[in-house]
Amino acid sequence: MTIPTTTPITTSVTTPTTPLKILTHEEFCTANTPDPCGIVIFGASGDLAYRRLIPSLYNLYKDKFLNSSFFVLGFARTAKNDNNFREEIINLLGEEKDALEFAKCFYYESGDYNSAASYECLVNRLQEIKKNNNNNMAKDKIIFYLATPPNLVETIIFHLSQVKLIYPDEGDLDKQSKWIKVVFEKPFGSDLESARKLNKYIHKHLRENQIYRIDHYLGKDSVQNILMFRFSNSIFEPLWNRQYIDHIQISALETLGVEHRAGYYDQTGALRDMFQNHMFQLLALIAMGPPARFDANQYRDEKIKVIKALRPIPKGKFHEFVVRGQYANGVINEQAVVGFRDEKNISPTSNTETFSAMKLFIDNWRWEGVPFYLRTGKRIGRAATEIVIQFKNIPHSIFYPLKADQLCPNLLSFQIGENEGISLGFEAKHPGPKLCMAFVNLNFCYSNIFGTRPLPLAYERLLLDCMLGEQILFSREDMVELSWEYITPILKDWENSPPLSNFPNYLAGSFGPEEANTLIERDGRKWILS
Ligand code: BG6
Repeated sequence: MTIPTTTPITTSVTTPTTPLKILTHEEFCTANTPDPCGIVIFGASGDLAYRRLIPSLYNLYKDKFLNSSFFVLGFARTAKNDNNFREEIINLLGEEKDALEFAKCFYYESGDYNSAASYECLVNRLQEIKKNNNNNMAKDKIIFYLATPPNLVETIIFHLSQVKLIYPDEGDLDKQSKWIKVVFEKPFGSDLESARKLNKYIHKHLRENQIYRIDHYLGKDSVQNILMFRFSNSIFEPLWNRQYIDHIQISALETLGVEHRAGYYDQTGALRDMFQNHMFQLLALIAMGPPARFDANQYRDEKIKVIKALRPIPKGKFHEFVVRGQYANGVINEQAVVGFRDEKNISPTSNTETFSAMKLFIDNWRWEGVPFYLRTGKRIGRAATEIVIQFKNIPHSIFYPLKADQLCPNLLSFQIGENEGISLGFEAKHPGPKLCMAFVNLNFCYSNIFGTRPLPLAYERLLLDCMLGEQILFSREDMVELSWEYITPILKDWENSPPLSNFPNYLAGSFGPEEANTLIERDGRKWILS
């Protein structure tokens, strides 16, 4: 994340509806417009490019963060030319003037990821674009974005290095007139061994400061806000520990199914797709200690301490701490939807989990004994990405006959998906002559306060940071490996278990399998969503 050099907040908020005065848009853009550069997107005809990358680049373009000589060269197997690609982009973005201009920055080269000749063509294509590009400063600053399945990553890196499009950089990338960066989409590897192998491999060709392992959750304003909330206010941090907190829940629930990604998802499952990256990043952010400075390495060091402190699940006890599920047909938003095994391109006997829940402990002074319950799933009855912190009950009730445990404990919730915001739930006097209480919420809603929703796609911030050479919101090598280290034994246990006779075990439109409720209810707690 790029922190503006000028203090951004120039007026203080006195009422909840006063919008904050931040740097003017022009001031912010001037401070943050990256040098002219080009992006080569591998997998340019895929879902990620169309759903996230191109629209995010367009948002940056409209917001004037991209220099006029910016260009994108799409590379994929599908045969098409520059014009077809541009037409698709206009169809995607609409025919407004900006979109027509933006589409002119796009070029396309089709090729085979395994063929050396395709990379020779790529070299020639880049030279041609640079020649045609009036402001040819962009020619020496290139981002290679690998929006491809993980099994192609080593092949692409190998060929790019063969044709010398990538090479390890020796100096300070920010100060150079020439730089090369590579963005790696998740999942980074498919288990600990493959992630280590991949890290080792890419380090032969690139330095860590050229490597951007993306986790789009870190680009969400509402996720970055966890850090601001915790470390730029003084009243919450003293409570942020085992003395005051009963437990923490993290839910990432989607109504969506596998959409157009059946092939990928059937090989991946919820644990690899969501837990190893997004869920563990949220866990680290909510549980970490304060770094001394908001600097890429110090900040990432603190997050890593959390993952290092995760209590390993004893061998043979995975079923006590981890639950998996798969959806059967059901109803979502009043529409009938098919079960996972009946989705197009999914094996009818698939054992892939579309839901997973986990109970974790962090063995350190701050969190000893505080359970963290995490769950994620597809085709759930309600879309919600939320972190809920449940504080402890009051020690003693003065409101006879109500006992302490009959009063609701305070709840602090971070809404990350829809309706981004924060709410604090507490007991209040219900109006009227009787001594009667109600549980009420104090709400902060992004769109009400700031008059705008956070960046819609989250990739905008990450793409911009990558262009600016800021790695704070990208996963460092050790974070990726440590999270795989935790997840891999679970995956292995599942792989070595006989096929599940109870799959599918939840209905589309429900809140996941019954076992997920048991996981939390046997501790006397229940799942909460605000
Ligand atoms: C992606 C996963 O990383 O995150 C998808 O691969 C998931 O399966 C998506 O749907 C969720 O992201 P968001 O931003 O919609 O919560």
